[in-house]
Amino acid sequence: MEKFPDRTIEAKNLSMTYRSGNIEVPALKNVSFRVEKGEFIAIMGPSGCGKSTLLHLLGGLMKPTSGRILIDGIDISTLTDSERTAVRRRKIGFVFQRFNLLPTLSAKGNIELAKKIHGNGSLGRNGIGEIVEMLGLRGKINSRPAELSGGEQQRVAIARALINQPSIILADEPTGSLDSKNAHTVLKKLRDLNEKLEQTIIMITHDSEAASTASRVIEMKDGQIHTPISKFEYESELRTAISVHE
Ligand SMILES: Nc1ncnc2c1ncn2[C@@H]1O[C@H](COP(=O)(O)OP(=O)(O)O)[C@@H](O)[C@H]1O
Ligand SMILES: [Mg+2]
Repeated sequence: MEKFPDRTIEAKNLSMTYRSGNIEVPALKNVSFRVEKGEFIAIMGPSGCGKSTLLHLLGGLMKPTSGRILIDGIDISTLTDSERTAVRRRKIGFVFQRFNLLPTLSAKGNIELAKKIHGNGSLGRNGIGEIVEMLGLRGKINSRPAELSGGEQQRVAIARALINQPSIILADEPTGSLDSKNAHTVLKKLRDLNEKLEQTIIMITHDSEAASTASRVIEMKDGQIHTPISKFEYESELRTAISVHE
């Protein structure tokens, strides 16, 4: 029997069909996979293949048309909206592809709001200073989103997701708007968090350098996954591939 010691995220037969008027868009088709605690996963695949849809479902931002999503063994697909939100706030840091910053708040306000909502003050005396410094945002903390470049907004969105040290980080193309230097800083930070704090990370990316930072790559196409569904299967497939070449 397969053993999965510390499975944190599990998708079972997940499907999502968007409906607008009479038109149905099947964005995810019967997707299953497992992520163990401390894995760093990159999701890759062509535009429109369902990557963001999958990440939004895993983060409890919407309900699937069918199938189940388990976060630390809790089936979030059966929860009410407010219960799902509670799980998300407690466990997940989400970096949105379009940043989703609040336009009326400064960069600092956006980051601090996430901290207040979470409400455990786990950052202690350091406040938001350390992450702001690391992401090169110090001179920008009083600016509102409209006054920031795309790359700066993206770094604020990343700081907001990381500030509460969530056990799971879900990031939708987190380096998509960054220059190579900032992309490198962000990837290194994610790698560090993954190694030191064992934060589980799922990151959508188009960038092969970003993908090579991850410990496993999930390939998607047309709403489906084209790689093994678990770390166990992934590693045994790698071993087979290596032995074939020997
Ligand atoms: N809110 C929505 N309403 C209708 N269709 C949507 C919606 N969001 C995404 N889609 C469609 O679902 C498919 C998958 O989209 P998405 O998950 O954003 O793909 P990706 O992130 O891989 O580019 C696409 O065909 C997209 O047009
Ligand atoms: Mg997307």
